Parts: sequence; structure tokens; C-alpha cells
Amino acid sequence: MGQGRHIGDLIASRRALLGGLAGLPLLNLAACATPSAQAGAALPPATPLTFARVAATNADTVTIPIGYRWRTLVAWGDALFDSVAPNFDANALTRAEQEQRFGQNNDMLALFPAEFSFPPAKDQTRMLMCVNHEYADPAMMFPALTSPQNLTPAHAEAILASTGIAVVTLERAADGWRIVKDSAPGAGHNRRITPFSPVVFSGPAATHPWIQTAGAFVNGREASAAGEPDAIRCGTYANCAGGQTPWGTYLSAEENFNGLFGASDDEAAPLIEAQAQPAYALDAGNFGFPTSNPLRRIMPPQFDLSQNPYGPALYGWTVEVDPYDPNWAPRKRTALGRRKAECATTALARDGRVVVYSGDDQINEYVYKFVSRGRFDAANRLANRDLLDDGQLYVARFDEDGSGNWLPLTVAAANAAAREAGYTALFRDEGDLMLRAREAARLLGATPMDRPEDVEALLDQNWTGLGPVLIVCTNNREQSFARPGNPRRESERPNRAQSNNAGHIVRIDEAGADCGATRFTWDVFALAGDPNATALTAPPRDGAPVHVSTSINGAPTISGDRFACPDNICIDSAYNVWISTDGSDAVFADCNDSVLVAPAAADGPRPVRRFLVGPVGSEICGPTLALDERAFFAAIQHPGESNVAGVDYASLRWTRGELPPSNFPDGGASWPRAAVVVITRDDGGKIGS
Ligand code: FEO
Ligand code: CA
Ligand code: CA
Ligand code: CA
Repeated sequence: MGQGRHIGDLIASRRALLGGLAGLPLLNLAACATPSAQAGAALPPATPLTFARVAATNADTVTIPIGYRWRTLVAWGDALFDSVAPNFDANALTRAEQEQRFGQNNDMLALFPAEFSFPPAKDQTRMLMCVNHEYADPAMMFPALTSPQNLTPAHAEAILASTGIAVVTLERAADGWRIVKDSAPGAGHNRRITPFSPVVFSGPAATHPWIQTAGAFVNGREASAAGEPDAIRCGTYANCAGGQTPWGTYLSAEENFNGLFGASDDEAAPLIEAQAQPAYALDAGNFGFPTSNPLRRIMPPQFDLSQNPYGPALYGWTVEVDPYDPNWAPRKRTALGRRKAECATTALARDGRVVVYSGDDQINEYVYKFVSRGRFDAANRLANRDLLDDGQLYVARFDEDGSGNWLPLTVAAANAAAREAGYTALFRDEGDLMLRAREAARLLGATPMDRPEDVEALLDQNWTGLGPVLIVCTNNREQSFARPGNPRRESERPNRAQSNNAGHIVRIDEAGADCGATRFTWDVFALAGDPNATALTAPPRDGAPVHVSTSINGAPTISGDRFACPDNICIDSAYNVWISTDGSDAVFADCNDSVLVAPAAADGPRPVRRFLVGPVGSEICGPTLALDERAFFAAIQHPGESNVAGVDYASLRWTRGELPPSNFPDGGASWPRAAVVVITRDDGGKIGS
């Protein structure tokens, strides 16, 4: 397919470019981008960070700088309504209970002023917080269960209901931020959205036959959706990162939805009929379904491919939620394309069109942006509600010379490329193109990336993109040759490449400092690793050496604290970049996953300082600052899901009957719970500065 041909072309052109340099040390071959790429945007000089760096630690708590304090804001199982018991009993959890309680494995966090304003008013005493609940590991639920064989369909419904989205009201009390319960669902803004909630598909793929067929199957089994006649009760799942729009809505990106599905009978007629379509077979291969799923016997029928083979077409989208309007069903915005969507961050183009950036977090997948046809209306919030249904989706191609192109996904271009590649499953229309956006991107020659996760544009005070955009590539364990924008996987010898286990962050500069542009330049913002390493490789926990040099062409990209596997970022008003990690401890075992800070603007190596270390077995998600920047929020996801040695708790629990390796956040002998923590300064000052 296109990808193989593309790699070959790149290697050939790279060798031609590098000429006689092949004997130089590893990484000297990397990144041909010119330094001028970074001169694209004028950023204000960095404001010096004043906090004292946090040392590496494996402590089972949240560790923060001296002079700062943390507290748990809300954790899995906490009641969001007075209509459920204030005490949480994880052993007695049901779907109905969980629909009124904070969900599992919080990921993205987004904060909105309690009363909408644009630009968002900074001095808030109330906020609405939107939270993604990405997934739930059965081993971290139901503490009294002795075997996964004892899980029932009721357990599965409770597990599913612990995922999705939460909207939670916050208020600033004398002792800091806390959640505000509503009396009952529907009484206020607090809300849970789960894989059973009614959602409306909008945009070009809304009428796609796979979606219509799967929707009819789901709706035949779940009660019909009052008030939204076109709604499908498939809700949302695998909600990873996301974004916020300037009109006060929340964008939630559906990532690893394939994990929901399995086939109870590979010979079932509906599945065989679906698989006979070349397009279905391609889609199944792309996303990795059908899969054998250990929970298959207890999962609801809509997740059984044997009965509902088109179920996966209902997921992989970006979902728009209006936290100010609980009666407006979430919209699946199909014009943004379907993939394992990590995030959906927004910027305004210079002419007011809305740009949505997204990574597709799987090895060798792509970076996308959508540009709306219409323009943001700051004076009329509701006039923006359909902006994300009509526009152009692009995918990024990085070139060797440090330039890049946003390739428009169009039916004509994708089908021309498909015919050239001898591809029989042509794209029928724009809806089919959006549903199978990954295939189109591959055919059009997009650049395969090292698992692109969060993407964040630098914005001005009015949400307008300044031009620089950061793309976080968490890692790529595959050993294949480097592609532009992914410099670490260089070849030590012509026939042997290495993996990029530590990850990196790429910076692009949109042409004309306009996020609506179709061209860009790129450079490497940071190679994650150990800036103080004396050797190119370090031995990680699993024994295979990891390349941890943070230099390119002999020049260090960062200084200060070491880290690996960057995932989510947020950018503060002084253009400091707050980086949270996922799996850094697999490379540097002496420190749990962390939050680090680096200035976007820097001369020479970018100084990185560790701000927070999470508890054992957790990853840190959703870093974000209160609107006044006097509080920092982070999602502590899956504490205790693995121990300090990296052994996952599912195997420890079911084979050895061990207790979880973390007791976060409640301490003592308590069962671990994913939680949102809030960090403030003892003196009440701005975070970081
Ligand atoms: Fe859900 Fe790619 O992290
Ligand atoms: Ca992530
Ligand atoms: Ca982010
Ligand atoms: Ca990740």
C-alpha cells in the first residue's frame, strides 16, 4: 500500500540528501529542519519559573514543590447528586448508581466559567469542569471479586457506565476549589454521559449506512431517546483527550474504541456479510477488530460484532458537549473524521474560521486538522453550534527540508490515489471518506508519526492561533526508518533501525502565522529522554536499551529534568508548556509518571523542570490551569494499575491475589481510585511563576 512505497521513497531521498555522512554518530543524521523554522512566530520572552524542581520519586502520592499544596477534588465513585448515597461502595456498584457518580480513569479536564463569556472571564468563583473517563480495567473495580470468571452482565454495565464524560460544577470556597452536588440529575449542570446515553450524529457521515444499521440495532435494545428523535443510544466511549471551543462547548475525542468489541461467533451471518465488503475488511484491519474479548460473554449485545458488525462505526469520532445546556444531546461531529482520536484542540484562523487539531494515537498514524467553512461569532454563542459540521479536513505531510503540507481529504483526491494503488474499496461520498479517514490519509501520502497524542496551538487572548503548534508524539516501539518529524528512529546500520521509546514533541509553524494555512514549517521542540545522559542508551525496566539522547545534530534540545513518553500538554498565558507523561517509568524506573514544565520560547536547550510526580501505577492526564492560573488541575488516571516494577495489577490480582500496589488517594489500606487533584500555592499566587 501507499505507506510502504512512501517509506522506500523517503529512505532513498534521505540517503541522497545525507551523502557521505553515514558514518556519523546516531542522531547526527536526524532532523534536517532549518533553524529558521523556529523563527516563524514572535513569542513573548519566557517568564522565569520560580518553583523548586521536584525530585524523582516512586512515592505513592502526589509530590509537588515546596510552597505548594494538593488535595483531591473528586474521585471515582464520588456522588455528583444528593439522590445517591454519599458513601461509595465499589462492591455494590450498579449501572444506575454509576450514572450518578464520578467515573473511572479520568483523562481530559476542561474548565469553563460558570456563566459563559468570551473571552472567558478569568476571575471565577464557580466553574464547570468537563472530564473524560477513558476506560475501566475490571481488575480495578469490585474489590471483593475473587475471579474475573465471577463478573456478570450487571458488572459489565456498571463498568461501561463508569466511562464516558462527566460535567461537574466547581466552586471556590475558603479552603479552595470543591465540587458542588446537584439535588438530582437534570436539576443543574452536573451530568454523566456514558456508552448508553443518547447522542446525535451530525455532518457528512450521519446518514452512512453502517451508522444507520448499527444505530437501529442499538436503539432496538435501549429505550428510545426522548426529545432528540434522531438520537442513537450508543453514547460515547474511549474518551481520551479533547478540547474546548471559543463558544463554550467541550470536545471529547474517542480513542481506543476497538477494545469495546468482540465476536461471540466468527461464523455469524451478519458478520460474514459485513466482512465480504472490501471497505469493511479494511476498516476492521485498520482499527483492530474483531478481536477476542475476554469480557465478551458479559458485554451487552451491541458490542458483539457477530450481532452488530457495524457497531465500531459509531465510535472513533469527536463528540461536542454543551456544558451549559444539559438538554442538548452530545453531537458526534463526523466532519472531523474517524480515527483513534486523541484530542480535538481548537484555534481561530486569522479570518475567524475554526481550526480543530487532532492526533491519531496509534503507531504510524497521522496528525489532522479541520478548518470550518463558517466563522466564529463571538456575539452569539448559539450561532456557532453547527460550525463543526461543515469544513475541510486535512492531514499533515512533513517533508525532509523542514517544510510541510496540510493535504486536503477530498473524495476526488482519495479515489484518484486509491485507483493508482489498485484499491477496490473506493470512497462513495464525503460521509464514507470521513468514516474511513485513516485510509484516505494513508493513500494521500500523509506522514506516519510516532503515536501523535495531544496537539496544542499557541493562542492569543482572543483564541486566535499565533502560528506555532506543538504535536506530542508519545513513543513508537516499532523499529522502522525515520520519517520527517520523527527523527529518533534513525538507522545505526543501513538495515537496522531503532525505536523511539522515549517520545518527542514536534513544533510546526503555520504559514503566515495563520492556523488556517495549508503549509507549515517544522522543527523538533524536544526529544524526551535524559539531557544529562552520558550514553546514547539507557537500560529500561524491560531490558531492551532505549535511546535517551536529547540532542539533534549534536545540539541538545532540552536541559534539566529527564522524562519520557509525553502525552497531554497545556500552555499557560506566559507560554509555558505543561507536559504530562504516560509510561515514563518504563524508561526511567526511578520516577512515576510526572508533570514537567518548559517554556515554549527558549534560546538553546529548553529548560525542563519537574513540577509534579503522581502515585504508583498512574499516568497523569488533563493538565490544566484555572482561568486565573491560581490553581492547577490534573487527572490521576489508573493509580495502582501496575506496581513500581511495571507488573500490571490484573495479573497480580487474579493469579496471586495481591492487594493493589497503590492506595491513592484515600491512603491506608483503601482501594485505589482515579482522581482529579487540584494544586495551589500556599501564598495563593500564580502557579509556576
Ligand atoms: Fe488515551 Fe493516547 O492516550
Ligand atoms: Ca493520552
Ligand atoms: Ca491538552
Ligand atoms: Ca498515552
